[in-house]
Amino acid sequence: MSPSSGIDATRFLHRLRTLAAIGRDDQGRRTRLAASDADRAGRDAVAGWMREAGLAVEIDWIGNLIGLWCPAGAQGAPVMMGSHIDTVIDAGAYDGCAGVLAGIGVVEALRDAGEIPARPLAVAAFTNEEGVRYAPDMLGSLVYAGGLPPEEALATVGTDGTRLGEELARIGYAGPQAPGFLVPHAYVELHVEQGPVLEREGIAIGAVETLQGISWQEVVIEGTANHAGTTPMSLRQDAGVAAAGLVTWLRERARRGNGRSVATIGRLRLEPDAINVIPGRAVLTVDLRDPDADALARLEADVAARLQEIARAEGVAVSVRRLARFDPVTFDPGLVRAIEAAAGARGLSTRRMTSGAGHDAQMMARLCPAAMIFVPSRDGISHNPREFTADADLVAGADVLLDVVRRIAAG
Ligand code: GLV
Ligand code: MN
Ligand code: MN
Ligand code: MN
Repeated sequence: MSPSSGIDATRFLHRLRTLAAIGRDDQGRRTRLAASDADRAGRDAVAGWMREAGLAVEIDWIGNLIGLWCPAGAQGAPVMMGSHIDTVIDAGAYDGCAGVLAGIGVVEALRDAGEIPARPLAVAAFTNEEGVRYAPDMLGSLVYAGGLPPEEALATVGTDGTRLGEELARIGYAGPQAPGFLVPHAYVELHVEQGPVLEREGIAIGAVETLQGISWQEVVIEGTANHAGTTPMSLRQDAGVAAAGLVTWLRERARRGNGRSVATIGRLRLEPDAINVIPGRAVLTVDLRDPDADALARLEADVAARLQEIARAEGVAVSVRRLARFDPVTFDPGLVRAIEAAAGARGLSTRRMTSGAGHDAQMMARLCPAAMIFVPSRDGISHNPREFTADADLVAGADVLLDVVRRIAAG
């Protein structure tokens, strides 16, 4: 196989579109939450494609789906590719799926060319990367890398009151393998950037060298539900006002930080949620991120202090539950250079970058050398059905993945 030959683009893109149709409702909203019926249908399709590509399909206790190609002559720890196929609510078509399907395409490209790697290859679709139904995010790869005991992860209660372990069993993806049953030689993940940098700079390939820290918390504010007409303004314990105070303060705090912090309140529920009742309870999520570990810790401390001030000022009670906490990650410098070299050899422009999003690669980096390949996202939009990456960019990224894997699986 010549080094410039690539993956079968037609097959790769066709599978991407097929997967994108799974979990789309009649309004066109695509949602494949982890361990849901739609996730099962997506997993069934991916497992089928893995088998078509000659991969032996393994499933571990936490539902991670791993295809293994171990051709005669290949030995040692496998080179692993992968990502996830679960989605957020009303998602795009590319987040996660591109990396899983490109991995399958890489195996097929080598097989079709009769090119036998010295090491086995593996392709993983990790469970619950998004963390929308079950927290934390990257849960499947976190368990795989030994960062969370499987029993604890399986007992996680979702936003809909279900238990992850029961839901995995229900959809037929509670497998027999112990998480971490294969410790890879290296892990490489292709992913859409989900941000504006590559497109804005006209660069084809991001060689991801770092990934920012992530902190998720759930905040519950308890006030007093009372009559909207009879309760004087000075005598209220309004949980809604307290929550709104945090929302607006947090944006300003993130802005006046180091210029790199981002902060989001993505969920906010008021109870009892009625026009003429003062909110007695507010439940909200806080998502804080920063590439600098100390800056992230300061941001968390400021949120905690602000919540105390709000509690005093509004006369409400505040409680906080941690949902996820991951420090920034530095990827393997040798792999990052291999990505740059592979892209350069194909005449593709590259830049090093920090990932703003969380990814399975950050968990796999605990287990083996890991790195990521980013391709441009149009208008930097993601976690939105308008998420879009051009076919040519996706294929270029998959070809770089092929070349990197070919190189690191050679010995
Ligand atoms: C997952 O996509 C995250 O970065 O929140
Ligand atoms: Mn993703
Ligand atoms: Mn995502
Ligand atoms: Mn993610």
